[in-house]
Amino acid sequence: LNYLLEKDRKHIIETLIAGLARLEYRGYDSAGLAIDGDEAGEVFIYKQVGKVAALKKLVSEQSIDLERPFVSHCGMAHTRWATHGQPSPTNSHPHRSDPKADFSVVHNGIITNYRELKLVLEKKGYIFESETDTEAVAKLAKYLYDEQRGNNNLTFTALVKAVVKELEGAFALIFKSTHFPNEIVATRRGSPLLVGVKTEKKLKVDFVDVEFGTDEKVEAANLLAPPDAQRLRRSQSRTFLSEDGMPQPIEFFLASDPSAIVEHTKRVLYLEDDDIAHISEGELHIHRLRRDDGISAVRSIETLEIEINNIMKGKFDHFMQKEIYEQTDSVVNTMRGRVNFETHKITLGGLKAYLQTIRRCKRIVFCACGTSYHSCLATRAIFEELTEIPVSVELASDFLDRKTPIFRDDVCVFVSQSGETADTILALRYCLERGALCLGITNTVGSTISRETHCGVHINAGPEIGVASTKAYTSQFIALVMMAIQLSEDRTSMTQRRNEIIDQLKKLPDYIDEVLSLDQELKKLANDVLYKEKSLLIMGRGMQNATCLEGALKIKEVSYMHSEGILAGELKHGPLALVDENMPVILIMTKDSLYPKVQSALQQVTARKGQPIIICNEGDDELSKNYKTITIPQTVDCLQGILAIIPLQLLSYHLAVLHGVDVDCPRNLAKSVTVE
Ligand code: G6P
Repeated sequence: LNYLLEKDRKHIIETLIAGLARLEYRGYDSAGLAIDGDEAGEVFIYKQVGKVAALKKLVSEQSIDLERPFVSHCGMAHTRWATHGQPSPTNSHPHRSDPKADFSVVHNGIITNYRELKLVLEKKGYIFESETDTEAVAKLAKYLYDEQRGNNNLTFTALVKAVVKELEGAFALIFKSTHFPNEIVATRRGSPLLVGVKTEKKLKVDFVDVEFGTDEKVEAANLLAPPDAQRLRRSQSRTFLSEDGMPQPIEFFLASDPSAIVEHTKRVLYLEDDDIAHISEGELHIHRLRRDDGISAVRSIETLEIEINNIMKGKFDHFMQKEIYEQTDSVVNTMRGRVNFETHKITLGGLKAYLQTIRRCKRIVFCACGTSYHSCLATRAIFEELTEIPVSVELASDFLDRKTPIFRDDVCVFVSQSGETADTILALRYCLERGALCLGITNTVGSTISRETHCGVHINAGPEIGVASTKAYTSQFIALVMMAIQLSEDRTSMTQRRNEIIDQLKKLPDYIDEVLSLDQELKKLANDVLYKEKSLLIMGRGMQNATCLEGALKIKEVSYMHSEGILAGELKHGPLALVDENMPVILIMTKDSLYPKVQSALQQVTARKGQPIIICNEGDDELSKNYKTITIPQTVDCLQGILAIIPLQLLSYHLAVLHGVDVDCPRNLAKSVTVE
């Protein structure tokens, strides 16, 4: 939204589409946007199936006046990952209340009671055009507005509050209305939403203060604001004035994720659940849905640390490739300022206040989804070894399905790259309710998980854009190992072990560089051996079990080839039946205490004429003489998984390219799954 800042329609469309393109990794089934039309009360909505580029093309084909200037304007756009209804222009957002689009809405999340709402609204004569949950929100807004028609004191904020009070589920919602031109209202519950603020001059205030117009007390049934509400709001609110007290050109950006706006501004404030943000006339006001909920309504403006380069591909063809290569740096960033390699001391500032409580707990529960879950599996053994605290590792969805017993003396660790995965957030809230100490390990400062946990560790890997997680995995891995080391620092019997791990942490970037130099070899392997295969088994045991599962997940995600990670110890209990001379097998045989046991898995495979490709350590001549091998540097057992996963990341990347898959946006998947 622009205030006292003349921009033409072309600029507005380009800003929206560029923002969508940056968010494309969150959803790319279809995309849409809404902007003001030529007449008062007219809205243009464009929607298209496929990627943002398809929407861009559609908009460019319209015969609209691109030079038309606007001094103040609200536009909105959305990129979709289908939950209700297949990808189609009609199911794409923005959704409208009626053909004239009195209200248009974009939504991230799921409205769980939309069927009930839809039934009620259909009875009132509303005709739904899409199969989505979101359309019910737009129509509900119109219904509630029409109920109050003629009420001149009805504010957009009060109306949205009334709408939100009827909603169940998770949502970040943005509303635009022809009845409230140049105003936008945004709200969230469960799904992330932030506001970026862009001004030339220094702002007079550095925070947004919620003011309480008396309309805060108005219930859904009575949207009539008392006459003095408007006045109160003006007099008590903080506004965005410049230092000289004058209103100034200002732009506000609302987005689910800072990548969409960082090229415009780094100054953001994160909305909390049930905040209702109203933007109009160059002012931003934040209201609470319910006045007496005890939540502070002051939101400070934070400065984003990400750079635009972080979210651009640079010399790489895909984000996934760039992020695999970045691991030499991202692992250093995870350790930066935390590991003292001289004194062998690790300090994770975020855990400081809770160290003793964690050390005294009865058990630690790791809880996560997808790749993050694998990083928990990968580090469980070293965690138990160093801390002597039993660790259980839970998939967040299953953890909730089972209603796992959780107690006050449990410590629960929620690992999530995005910090916004709905299953993990719900598991976190479940544990908070039961009084457990909750820690977050995330890559996203300001995310729901980092805000709602008691304490935690940011992995600082930098923004991860490719849907298939790579650098976040290795950084989560390191963060968890560092945490185990710090927790065990008072156990002298472990000093030598800890020192050895810390020494090896220092060498990791060089080792990673060495593994990355295998890229061409892996490309050839993908091309010559694996590309035409239907299936690939990846086997290993102990600390490499997680590597097998994560490697197989990468291959499935981006190449659509079937792949299975198999615990080598379980081979004889079933999976061996799959092995013959035709079944491609990768076996991870790094030198650790379980090496002899993996040797027996190798024999089991070769006895069935299997021809495994072996990931082994440099210097394992016996293996390289007899088998096709991929050799990686040897490090301490508990860090070996960091080096063993990288060849599998590269392999999956090359398989994806060979299969012609849109590597950064594989079909049916989303980067942040903000729905249950
Ligand atoms: C989605 C992504 C995965 C990711 C998982 C957990 O499924 O496609 O790459 O591992 O969510 O995400 P989180 O952000 O919680 O780590």
